[in-house]
Amino acid sequence: MSKYIVRNNGPLKGEVSISGSKNAVLPLMAASLLTSEKCEICDTPALRDVDVMCSIIRAMGGKVDFDKDSNCVEIETNTITYNGANSELASKMRASILVMGPLLARSGKATIALPGGCAIGARPIDLHLKGFEAMGVKIWEKHFDGFDYVVAEAEKLTGCDIYLDFPSVGATENLMMTAVLAEGVTTIQNAAEEPEIVDLANFLNKMGAKVKGAGTATIRIEGVSKLHGTKHHVIPDRIETGTFMLAAAITRGEIKLKNAVASHVRPLIAKLKECGAIVREEDDGISVCAKDRKLVSTNLKTLPYPGFPTDLQSPFMSLLVTTEGTGMVIETVFENRFMHIAELQKMGAIIDYSDRKAIITGTDKLQGASVKATDLRAGAALVLAGLAAEGTTEVDQVYYIERGYEKFVEKMSGVGADIEYIE
Ligand code: UD1
Repeated sequence: MSKYIVRNNGPLKGEVSISGSKNAVLPLMAASLLTSEKCEICDTPALRDVDVMCSIIRAMGGKVDFDKDSNCVEIETNTITYNGANSELASKMRASILVMGPLLARSGKATIALPGGCAIGARPIDLHLKGFEAMGVKIWEKHFDGFDYVVAEAEKLTGCDIYLDFPSVGATENLMMTAVLAEGVTTIQNAAEEPEIVDLANFLNKMGAKVKGAGTATIRIEGVSKLHGTKHHVIPDRIETGTFMLAAAITRGEIKLKNAVASHVRPLIAKLKECGAIVREEDDGISVCAKDRKLVSTNLKTLPYPGFPTDLQSPFMSLLVTTEGTGMVIETVFENRFMHIAELQKMGAIIDYSDRKAIITGTDKLQGASVKATDLRAGAALVLAGLAAEGTTEVDQVYYIERGYEKFVEKMSGVGADIEYIE
């Protein structure tokens, strides 16, 4: 089991370059299945989840060439022979479900093992399936090799009006990718508005699709008969951006985040300012300064974009553990995303919680401890707490962190963190 050993090394200082977005690149890679021509995706972060998506496409018979030095992935899927994702791969990552829409659009068939990923709640896929059915897809479940699979088939995909009961990011992406090759017009209402949705729409439009309204709650897609290959640069990762902004705040340091996009992290900028940090929007990024400042607590509630992102809830809670006063965090997006609390409490954090509400009382007595990353963002939250605690913090199960943060140890060390990877 690999671990990080983290020690308090005072305020972090320096510059960090933000990588391409994990949550943007995964749907882009899946969308490459919509054409038999080559797609080139630049600024692709070298992450475990990206490796899993490469393996899923290769297992179908597609050609994937990922140059991790140049962060460029080339995908060519004219040789695909298998329209699905098996249990071994799909169980590693929930985003494996994103190949379902493109496979249906290209071949009218998809067989996907029920997806895995971080254990942060039930995370059903009913909204994806309901939308597919509205487009004319027949769906059933099949159990084989000890696993549950979703099988989907359509003779023809027909554009339609879809209303999502919740603005699910994955369902919006999957349905957009199916609708681009359906006959007629599809509208998705109460669609997710995340920047990753806009990036996907831009990629699809470069491939020849007709997608309008991405980034708003209503997306209109006019189906076309064929898409072609393209080249695209992935947007910077707003969650990595937020994590390093919080690293500056929790250590009362000063970090410049190069190529970070301020408009993608508005709620975090607002909350950090409420706490008393100085946040500057610059031409080539964002800088956060908490040097010699007394930070105070605040309250937040996670919401779909443009609300406060659920993926930054646990890292922000680590900051609140160290600020003066009492703050409140309400998680509304996932029902089981407080697993980091028990770990933070092992370090001396004062947190009362029930259901989806946590009350955090700041302390200056955080102590290093042996803790466990229970999911990707919870893992990052524990590293942040370790940077502010006295003594040594051992963070176990760091493979979760490596699913979503490129060169995490290298980048943290680059701004002065004392962090070591142990196999
Ligand atoms: C994506 C992100 C993840 C982020 C989440 C919310 C990727 C690869 N992952 O995940 O990092 O935390 O958005 O911002 O982009 N739901 C249903 N039925 C469905 C689909 C979703 O009930 O069919 C529920 C989920 O259980 C959850 C909520 O909707 O409670 C949000 O899920 P969703 O927006 O779909 O998240 P993901 O796309 O899985």
